[in-house]
Amino acid sequence: QDRAPRLSVIGTGYLGATHAACMSELGFEVLGVDVDPEKIARLSRGEVPFHEPGLPELLRTHVESGRLRFTTDVAEAARWADVHFVGVGTPQKVGESGADLRYVDAALASLAAAIDRDALIVGKSTVPVGTARRLAAMVRRVRAEAGLPGEVELAWNPEFLREGFAVKDTLTPDRLVIGTDGTRAEPVLRRVYARQLAADTPWISTDLETAELVKVAANAFLATKISFINAFSEITEAVGGDIGTLADAIGHDARIGRRFLNAGVGFGGGCLPKDIRALQARVSELGLDRTMRFLAEVDDINLRRRDRVVDLAVQVLSAARDAGRGEAAAYGGKTTGSGVEVLRGARIAVLGVTFKPDSDDVRDSPALDVANRLYTAGADVRVHDPEGNANAAARFPRLDYVDSLEEAVEGAELTLLLTEWQAFREMDPAAVGALVDARLLIDGRNVLDVAAWAEHGWTVVGLGHRFDPAALGA
Ligand code: UDX
Repeated sequence: QDRAPRLSVIGTGYLGATHAACMSELGFEVLGVDVDPEKIARLSRGEVPFHEPGLPELLRTHVESGRLRFTTDVAEAARWADVHFVGVGTPQKVGESGADLRYVDAALASLAAAIDRDALIVGKSTVPVGTARRLAAMVRRVRAEAGLPGEVELAWNPEFLREGFAVKDTLTPDRLVIGTDGTRAEPVLRRVYARQLAADTPWISTDLETAELVKVAANAFLATKISFINAFSEITEAVGGDIGTLADAIGHDARIGRRFLNAGVGFGGGCLPKDIRALQARVSELGLDRTMRFLAEVDDINLRRRDRVVDLAVQVLSAARDAGRGEAAAYGGKTTGSGVEVLRGARIAVLGVTFKPDSDDVRDSPALDVANRLYTAGADVRVHDPEGNANAAARFPRLDYVDSLEEAVEGAELTLLLTEWQAFREMDPAAVGALVDARLLIDGRNVLDVAAWAEHGWTVVGLGHRFDPAALGA
C-alpha cells in the first residue's frame, strides 16, 4: 500500500498516551484505545490525565486537527489501523514479585479476535522475556480458530522514555530496538520511524527475546548504578568522606560515567523497582535462581536509604533537643536519646513526595514512603509537592498536604527535602529560615549548597554524609 500506515495505540496510560500524541506529531493518523471510558473521554477533550511537560500542548493540537482520536472500541481500531502499538501496563503482581500480564494478554486477545485484515501488532510494554513469543502463538491460535482473514505479525519495540522527558524521549530516542519474528514488521516500522532514522538514531533489529531483554537490562543497570553509589553512601555516612566528590571522581572515567550516580533516597517510580523484581522472578522461573541475585541486594540497598532518612531524622531531632535548639528543646522537657520517641509530635516539613521532579507520579516513591513512616511514628508531618499532592493524598490521605512551600515549613522543627524539584533547589535559606522553628534540614538528594545555607544558620545534613551531633552544639 502507498498511503502512510494508520496507527492505533492500545492502552492510553503514560506510555500509550505519549506514544499516540508523538506519532500524530510525526504526521500519522492515530487512534488511541483504552478500556477506561473516563480516560478516553478526557483524552478526547484534549486533556492529559497526568503531569508530563509538553504533552498537553501536543495532544490538544492533534486532537483539534482530527489526526488523533480516541475510542474504547478495540474492534474499531482492528478494522481501521495497519499497525497496533500495545502499551498497556504490566504492574507488579500484588503480594508477589512477578509482573502481572493480564492486561497485555487481554489486549492481545481482543485485538487478535477482531483484526480481519493484514496488520502488525507491536508490543511496547515491558514484559518478562518469553512473553512476546507466547503472545505471538496465542494470536495465531485465536485467529486460526476464528478463521479470520489477513496476516498478523507480532513485533516487540520496547520503550525507554523517562517521565518528565517523555515527549523528547519518544520523538528523539537514544535508540530504537525492534524485535521481530517475521519479515513484514521491519519495513513498516522503518516507515513509521523514518524521521528518527533520518536523524541517524541507532536502529537495532533483533529477535523477540533480545528486544524484551534490552529493556529490563537497561533498567536493571540503571538501578544497579544508583544502588552502587548508595552503598558507598553507607560507608561515607559511617566514616566520613564526600559522596558527591566520589561520584564526580569515578564518573570522569568514561567507562563509568557520572549519570545515575547521584546518591540520595534512592529510586522509585513505575519502572525501576518493579522491573528488577520482575526480572528476578522471571529468571527464577527459568531455573536461573542465582543469576540475578545481585538485584535483590540492589533492591535492599535502595530500601535501606529510606530507613536511613528516618534514622537521621531521629538523630538530628535528638541532637537538637540535647543542644536546646529550637522549639524542639522545650518539647516534653527531656531528651529522648536515639529512640524513635523523639518523632512523636515533632513538626516535620516534607518537601517532595513524587518519585522524581517534573512528575506527579508517587508509585513506589521513596519520599512518600518516608513521609508516611514519619507520620506513622507519630510525627506531625506537613507535606508539599508542586504536582504530587493529589496522588499522594489518594494513597495516604491522613498526611497533611499543603499548597505551598511556605505553609509546609512554617513552624517546622526539621525540614526534609526528598524530591529535588527546581523550586526546592532554589529555596532562599534566609526566607525559609524566617519561617521555621529550627534551621535543620535533611537533604535527601544532595542538591543544596551546604556552606551557603550554613551562612544563614542552617545545619544541612546530606544523605551519604556523616552526621555529627556536635555540629548542633550538643
Ligand atoms: C526509568 C528509565 O530511566 C527509563 O529509561 C525507562 O523507560 C523507565 O524507567 P523513570 O522511571 O521515568 O525512567 O525515572 P528515572 O529518571 O530513570 O529515575 C528513576 C529513579 O531513580 C527516580 O526515583 C530518581 O530519583 C532516581 N535516581 C536517578 C537516583 O536516585 N539517582 C540518580 O542518580 C538517578
